Formats: sequence, structure tokens, C-alpha cells
Amino acid sequence: MRHLNPTLYEVIYDWFHQLPMDYEAKKEGNTHNNLKNSQEAIIACLVEQFPRSYREAYEVYRDLFSQIDIFSVYDELEEMNMLAFGTGSGGDVFGLIHACESFFRGKRINIFTVEGNKDALRSQINLFRQHVQLNLVENDINLIPIPVVIEPGFVKLMTELKKRCFKAYGVQKFDLIQSFKWMNEQSIRGRLRFYDLYTWINDWLLPDRLAVILEDASPVSNHKCDQQVSMRAINDFVFFCKHQWRKNQLVALTPTPCIARKLNGNKAMQCRGCSGCYDEMEAYIKLADQKSYSWQSNCVFVMKLATGELGQRLAANLQDESVGYQTATHIGEHPNRFCTLDAKVSANQQANAFIINQRL
Ligand SMILES: C[S@@+](CC[C@H](N)C(=O)[O-])C[C@H]1O[C@@H](n2cnc3c(N)ncnc32)[C@H](O)[C@@H]1O
Repeated sequence: MRHLNPTLYEVIYDWFHQLPMDYEAKKEGNTHNNLKNSQEAIIACLVEQFPRSYREAYEVYRDLFSQIDIFSVYDELEEMNMLAFGTGSGGDVFGLIHACESFFRGKRINIFTVEGNKDALRSQINLFRQHVQLNLVENDINLIPIPVVIEPGFVKLMTELKKRCFKAYGVQKFDLIQSFKWMNEQSIRGRLRFYDLYTWINDWLLPDRLAVILEDASPVSNHKCDQQVSMRAINDFVFFCKHQWRKNQLVALTPTPCIARKLNGNKAMQCRGCSGCYDEMEAYIKLADQKSYSWQSNCVFVMKLATGELGQRLAANLQDESVGYQTATHIGEHPNRFCTLDAKVSANQQANAFIINQRL
């Protein structure tokens, strides 16, 4: 599958060609300050970011839903309530929708899409309308905008959710929560810890369900925070599990060995010399300064989490100590890296640390 959704891209390029010729789309579409984006910058992000996020989300959910234990749980539901944080123009949301369309039939799926930039949210809803008008969705999918700037403490978010989600749709907790590429934004970096995000997700996700956290994690990024994000997320997860063990229902499935070794707590067993772990994902795209489509890769950190018995069952499948999991791909001077769950055991098979649904 080369283009995931050519129709949407046509709309995006139509908008893009209306930008002034000298507009610096490459620069404006790649900042960490998207909450303040102008309408032009939102269009630049649609070219630079949207197709990547679309494919990354699609691949993440394809991996999850093709796992029979997960598919069975979700396929039994008539209605699903999903929550997405910091969605911008919705590349991640459309990837999720595309995956749901590939796996499920006859479902009512409510996606509550939280975004602090009103213009970006408007563009997402516009794209969704075109998507529906073109009969690209067969399930009964509702995209419900939640316009709010999320702040530490989540107070405003809760007020908005009470009004637009809990009361209006009778939702009590969510069937799926996703958080893609907003924890490294200027609005929140250094103010909201991953620890707080895990606590929130733990409180508001139903048992036997999924959450996904994904961040850009390129080892060659100009932004230092992209190189550090995976370690921040993993270290905080370990603190979270230790401090909140009584009420914690989250099980982290990926990146498999990194989480396992850190949770193990024995320093000698931890990944030595690891400064980050990331997965290379490819999308068939044309960025702002390019003339033609081509396969281009981006490095992301993907944490797949599950709750309840489902989480326990899935984690039990990920305990083969003889597997060397790939935790970093080759980018420039950065070597490929493989880790086993226990540093003392050497690998006799290889797998991807970010994919749970693979036959070994
Ligand atoms: C890099 S974009 C990612 C968009 C989308 N999640 C994706 O994967 O393509 C980050 C988005 O998060 C939004 N954002 C940043 N800080 C936010 C906050 N504190 N509350 C709500 N949205 C926020 C920005 O406005 C922007 O649209």
C-alpha cells in the first residue's frame, strides 16, 4: 500500500498550492511550537507532518488489531469511545480511522479529538467531512472536537470533557486513548511529565483496553528533546509503576526489552550505552521542498500499553529471553542495536522491539 489516502492528500496539496511562493513551508511545518501556528503554518504541517503521522498511526493500530486477543476484545463492542490528545490536523486520527475501517464493521466509533489550536482543529474537522462525503468510511464514525489547551493538572481538559463527552455522550471511561507527538511541544515540555500522562490514562482507560503514546525520536533531530524523549518516557514509566503499584493497571508492551530491563531494576542488566530507542517507519510522501513522491523514513518512539487481563496476557507472550529485539535502526553514525530481555542471555532470534504481533 503506497498512498494510504490519496483523496486526502489531493485536498492538502490544493491548500498547499495556495500558499505564497516564498513561504518557508519546510521550516514552519517542523517546529515544536504548533499551538501557536498560523493558518499558513497549519497547511505547511499538513504537508510535512500529516502523511507521516497518518502512516505511523495506521501501522501502530494494524499491529495491535491484528493481534487476535486485542481484536476479539474490540470486535465484541458495538460502540467504542476513543480519546486522542494534541491531534492538530489529525494525521494520527485519520490513521486510526483507516485502521478501524480495515478491521471492524458495523461499529459506532466516537473519537473525541482534543486540540488547543482552533484553526488546526477546524482543518481536521473539514478534512473529516470530505472523508465522510466521499464515502470513505463504512462504520458509524463520529469525530467530536474538544477545543482546549491541556495544562498540567488537566483541570480545563476535565471541564471540557465533562461538558462535551461525559454528559453529552454518556461516556464514563475510554476504550482507547492515544497521545501522539504533543508531549514534546513547547507548550508542555518540562511542565507536564510522562508520569502525569500515565496517571491520567490509568484513571480514565477501561480495563482490557489499549493506549498508545508516540513521539518523534530521531537521533539526528535538531531538537535535543527528540533524542531524549524515549528515556524520559521509559524512566517515568518505571517511577509510575513503583509509586502507583496499588492502583496501576497499565502494562507497557513496547518497546519490549527497554521496559523489561528498566523495570527489573538491576543496573547491570540494563541497556548499556543506550541513549534512546526508536523505530524507523516509512511513508510514501512528498514533502514541501520535494518534486515527487518517494518512500521516506522517520524515527519514532512508540509505547503500546494495555490494561487489565488483556495486558497481562499480551505481556506473557513477550517473555522469550532468547530474542534479540531491535531497539534502534541505522541512521547515519547511529548503529543498529539489539537487546535481549536479560543482558546476560544472548540472542538466537531477532525481532522488532516495537511490534507485538510478529511470529518468531
Ligand atoms: C506535532 S503536532 C502533532 C499532531 C498529531 N498528534 C500528529 O501526530 O500528527 C502537535 C499538536 O499538539 C497541539 N498541542 C500542543 N500543546 C498542546 C496543549 N497543551 N494542549 C492541546 N494541544 C496542544 C499543537 O497545537 C499541535 O497541533
